[in-house]
Amino acid sequence: MSTAIYPGSFDPVTLGHYDIIERSSRIFDRVIVGVLRNSAKSPLFSEEERVNMIRHVARNLPNVEVKAFDGLLVEFAREEKASVIVRGLRAVTDFEYELQMAQMNRVIAPEIDTLFLTTNLKYAYLSSSMAKEVAMYGGKLSAFLDPEIASLVRAKFAPEK
Ligand code: COA
Repeated sequence: MSTAIYPGSFDPVTLGHYDIIERSSRIFDRVIVGVLRNSAKSPLFSEEERVNMIRHVARNLPNVEVKAFDGLLVEFAREEKASVIVRGLRAVTDFEYELQMAQMNRVIAPEIDTLFLTTNLKYAYLSSSMAKEVAMYGGKLSAFLDPEIASLVRAKFAPEK
């Protein structure tokens, strides 16, 4: 059985992430979306919220599981018996960082490969921070986020009553 890990901070999960999750679920028998617990990015959403949001968007993909992790990604992959790490490449600007990370991971765990999927062109510009910025200024989120996720993001920026 082939198992892949798709890691990230997912703060929040976007339609671009979903595109990668859905395509990975067609390539592998089992896909584990790994939510980085201690992100240095001081996330807007808690670990539990981020996990639940991904479970919501991936609810119709039976071979997709969502788990939080901390520590080294390759150790998490080993624990889950995953032989592949999936990453999405949006633009050439992603490449250098992704290549460095893939090579580091390969030195630590030579038995685990990194597979890059090119992001759907529709989402090549998208990031979680950009979606949050649009939400902060009250902009329309339907091109970036699942409707349920969009309401949760909007609620975070709604003025306290
Ligand atoms: N669609 C939309 N946005 C995408 C995307 C896609 N397909 N692919 C990446 N992004 C965006 C994310 O939204 C995120 O945006 P943000 O910076 O505005 O939040 C950004 O690209 C990159 O984030 P992400 O993919 O979540 O990766 P990351 O850089 O936050 O985390 C890990 C990468 C989790 C894989 C890495 O930090 C890790 O492995 N950490 C564990 C520790 C470890 O093993 N370290 C050694 C590695 S060498």
